[in-house]
Amino acid sequence: MAAGFTDRQEALVKESWKVLQKDIPRYSLLFFTTILEIAPAAKQMFSFLRESDEIPQNNPKLKAHAVKVFKMTCESAVQLREKGEVVVKETTLKYLGSVHLKNGVVDPHFQVVKEALVRTLKEAIGDEKWSHELEGAWSHAYDQLAAAIQLEMKQEA
Ligand code: HEM
Repeated sequence: MAAGFTDRQEALVKESWKVLQKDIPRYSLLFFTTILEIAPAAKQMFSFLRESDEIPQNNPKLKAHAVKVFKMTCESAVQLREKGEVVVKETTLKYLGSVHLKNGVVDPHFQVVKEALVRTLKEAIGDEKWSHELEGAWSHAYDQLAAAIQLEMKQEA
């Protein structure tokens, strides 16, 4: 984005992350339900999904992954506004690279998760408050974060 990440985009992402935080069990579940709707085969990658026929309610690992994706994307938005780029701590990036490689994650999965994130947000925010600007801000922050993880995965592979 040539014009850089604006204060307004950062504020939009932060505000909507607060909305998600109001009901993490619900939005984590919706996030994973949507991931599996788009890519049913992804079920096999997640330990907590492999173990049962249904998506488990209130599962700590499921919530942890959903929260990590939401929160790290929000943090990326802040960094984009402050520094113009997403910087992930070296140790965190190494960990993220290896955990995803080990679990069989490949590039197209990142698009699936992005789509699920956008749909979950849309449900949480509601059609009336939803805007292209909001979607664009989250998408951009997510893309930058995903790119950093994907690059690390390629370097480690
Ligand atoms: C594990 C973050 C995208 C699949 C993890 C963990 C983190 C994380 C922090 C470690 C779990 C923990 O310590 O709680 C992220 C972030 C992402 C992202 C920030 C994107 C910005 C994806 C994508 C997939 C994926 C696209 C594939 C659809 C997995 C799997 C595990 C994992 C299978 C192991 C979970 C388990 O079985 O317990 N991720 N992830 N992640 N991630 Fe991601």
